[in-house]
Parts: sequence; structure tokens; C-alpha cells
Amino acid sequence: MAEIIDGKAVAREVREAVKNEVEKLGRERGLVPGLSVVLVGEDPASQVYVRNKGKACEKTGIRSVQHTLPEDTTQERLLGLIEELNNDPSVHGILVQLPLPPHIDEHSVIEAISPEKDVDGFHPFNVGRLVVGRPAFRPCTPAGIMRLLDSTGIDLTGKEAVVVGRSNIVGKPVAFMLLERNSTVTICHSRTEDLPEKIARADVLIGAVGRPEMIKGEWIKPGAVVVDVGINRVPERGLVGDVEFESAARRASWITPVPGGVGPMTIAMLLRNTVEAAKRAADGSGA
Ligand code: GUN
Repeated sequence: MAEIIDGKAVAREVREAVKNEVEKLGRERGLVPGLSVVLVGEDPASQVYVRNKGKACEKTGIRSVQHTLPEDTTQERLLGLIEELNNDPSVHGILVQLPLPPHIDEHSVIEAISPEKDVDGFHPFNVGRLVVGRPAFRPCTPAGIMRLLDSTGIDLTGKEAVVVGRSNIVGKPVAFMLLERNSTVTICHSRTEDLPEKIARADVLIGAVGRPEMIKGEWIKPGAVVVDVGINRVPERGLVGDVEFESAARRASWITPVPGGVGPMTIAMLLRNTVEAAKRAADGSGA
């Protein structure tokens, strides 16, 4: 039976470390890290995420400001706000909650954020730096996944890592982060042929497709470490992941639960990136 990777406990450790760092920055340098969070429209899930990000900042001593814009906000207006935030020295991190309403081009918005304030790590500058192995803001959910893998003590070098899902937010960046740690990485997606055969090779399996229990426990290699990024709401059952938990836990050596696995890590890593952005701005070292 697999051991559980306790995302809540690991996230708490990260948040504690960030809190101490924020206190130290305030005490020694009079620096208060600032995060601006932009929400366009009224998507209920996004409203919850944004509220939780604000609360987490407050508890950590990070000054967070939420900008809520109506659903019919023009792209021009949104880009104008980003420009203001780019130029505001009290703002160290800018996060535009995704998805955006369909009339707004997500790529143009992400590219308008100063790379040195891009605490989501979504700007092509930061993505490019990840790909070439240079320091940069790493996207929060993938960074959280790596932290959870490290909490198991697994040595990733030479391991077969299979990522199911190729989103810009999770699948692609986590694949490069695993590669950076010397894993042999396969990225699977909706067009992949013979998915069970690919998954059966995985010493490390990352489920990030967003389809409830699509990955069956019987496909999993005995002893694998399984990280489930999926948070799918299923009528009458509540939240389930992308992996069939019960059967997977009988084969895996370690597995994340849903909820309480990857979820809590995203905000913890966002806090860490925001403090990093504030330190770099104060040191004048840019992105
Ligand atoms: N929507 C879902 N996850 C994320 C995230 O990590 N950052 C932003 N900005 N939007 C998201």
C-alpha cells in the first residue's frame, strides 16, 4: 500500500519558511513584498482561487491587492492596468487569473506582464529560461509538484517520468523541470497511442489531464511515485483526481491524495515566487 504524500503538510512548511523570510525582509530592509492579483469576470472557481491567494498573502505578511474587472472588460483596459502595475514599484508580483473571457487574447496579456514581475512563470521569457536551464520564475503548480517529489526522497536521475497532459500551466513546464533533474521524460496527451503502455513504464507519473479517474490503477508500475494534479468535481462523489486513487494506491509506493495533494502547493509556491521577486527588485538584479 502506498504512502500518502501530504501536500497540506509540505505546503505548510513552505508557507512557514516564506513567512519567516518576509519578517526578516521587513525587519532588516523595510521591504514589504507586494502581489497584485487581477480577476476578470465572475468564474466561481477563479473567484475561490483568487480569494484563497489573497488570504494566504495576508497570513504571510505579503501585501496583496485584488483588481476585479467586469466580464466585458476590453483587452485594452486590461493591458492598461498591467502597464500601471508594471510601473508601480510597490508591486513586485503580478498574477492575472486564468482563464480569461474568450474575447481577450491570453497570450497578449501574459506577454504584457514584466518578466521580472511574472510570479506565475508564464511569460515566454521565463518559459524560455526554464527550457535552457537558466534561473527564472518557475510556474507554481509544477514547482509544487517537484517539491512534493523531493519530499518522498526519490532520486529522479535516470528515472522514467511520464507526464499525462501538455498544458502550458502544468504539463509542459513540469516535463522540463523533470528533465532538468535528469529524468527521462515522456509527455502524453489526448492523441497518444497506447497510453496504458506508456504509463506502465513510469517510475514517476504526473496526471495532469483534467479528466476524472482517466488513469487506471492497473496501468501503474508497482512502486511508482504518483502525483495527481487533477481536481475534478463529480456529481455525488465530490472531488476526484485524474488517477483512480484506490487501485493506484495498491500499486504505487507514494501517491498524492485529492484534495490535499498538489492543490495546497500552488499557492505556497506563489508566495515564494513573490518574495523572490521583491528581493530581486530590491537587489536591482531584475529577472
Ligand atoms: N488558473 C489555474 N491555475 C492558475 C495559475 O497557476 N495561475 C493563474 N494565473 N491562473 C491559473
